[in-house]
Amino acid sequence: MLDAYLQWQLDALKSRSLYRDPDDAFARREVAAAADAQGDRFIDASSNDYLGLAGASVSRETGAAGAGASRLVQGTRAEHVALEAELASWVGLSSALLFTSAYAANVGTMSALGGDDAVMISDELNHASIIDGCRLARAQVLVTPHLDLAAIDSALSAARSTPLRWVITESYFSMDGDGPNLTALRALCDRHRAFLVVDEAHGLGVFGAGGAGRCAELGVRPDVLIGGLGKAVGSQGGFVAGSAALRAFLWNRARTFVFSTAPSPSLCREARAQVAAARAADPARERLHANVAAFRGALSELGVTVGEGSFGPIVPVWIGDGQRALEAAQRLRARGVLAQPIRPPSVPPGTARLRLTVTAELELDDVKRLAERVAEATLT
Ligand SMILES: Cc1ncc(COP(=O)(O)O)c(C=O)c1O
Repeated sequence: MLDAYLQWQLDALKSRSLYRDPDDAFARREVAAAADAQGDRFIDASSNDYLGLAGASVSRETGAAGAGASRLVQGTRAEHVALEAELASWVGLSSALLFTSAYAANVGTMSALGGDDAVMISDELNHASIIDGCRLARAQVLVTPHLDLAAIDSALSAARSTPLRWVITESYFSMDGDGPNLTALRALCDRHRAFLVVDEAHGLGVFGAGGAGRCAELGVRPDVLIGGLGKAVGSQGGFVAGSAALRAFLWNRARTFVFSTAPSPSLCREARAQVAAARAADPARERLHANVAAFRGALSELGVTVGEGSFGPIVPVWIGDGQRALEAAQRLRARGVLAQPIRPPSVPPGTARLRLTVTAELELDDVKRLAERVAEATLT
């Protein structure tokens, strides 16, 4: 049903000759071949590469430093397409579209999916990029209490007469280390014939076989999946995965895609290798989850309260007052532990915390020491 709607929109663009296709960029090869055949030098008069620096290879293996233009204006390269294929295969969805960051992916996607005939039902703790995208969506936005399925159910019932209903959540909340019951959320969306958008920025690489994320782990198929390459993948960039129609819709409508220079081909080549490494990193994932269990266990033994419902490597230790969170972080720094104090506006007032993250790099001894230091810094 979603694809039929998106296709209807795309057909409307086609009927007005407004449909565009980034793969048209491969026409540059044909143009170059045509110049060759005539014994002429190929002239690229479409690029913003004013100083001719973008084509410089960092090394023979890494490819061009810059694409020179947006994806729709001759900027698409084989590296983009190959990375998109790798990403779609990773999350088990038909296709993926790259953005310069997950921030850009969220802003572009939410604003494109909105409109007068849409309602966006968004968790109150969704990331700023989702909030900004919803603000630009020209749609009714209903913000529901964190992880509250009953509130989403009521919002969907209230929005019954609105043709397009989107439910938007993160799979693993970056400041709270918790996440929705995705199976129940999918069922709720299906019952209300609503569409599910899941931001997996912090779930990818961490959860599921091959690190394919929480949706894949639970066998939940979102209509729109947002991913980031700047977290567990250790690179930079963002993407949206879903159906082929969604991909085509977004490359026509997501303004952060249409009006932005294509990501660096060289970076995309590196990012693809990083994604492959993240997929193959099951031993590191096992170490990570063993460290998580040890850290959470040690904190609990020491009487440190962590965020209710939190799980996985993001461990919020509640402080409440912003100044006290800052002081706790300073005490930890003085003991050789770098921990991030999180204060408003990153989190709501009165909910300042230490955001501790566990990694696969830590030795078990480090994990125990970390728990002791956190207890000393927060329980005094
Ligand atoms: C849930 C979520 N979505 C999107 C983003 C933005 O990611 P990026 O750093 O790739 O712009 C972040 C990270 O800050 C995030 O936590």
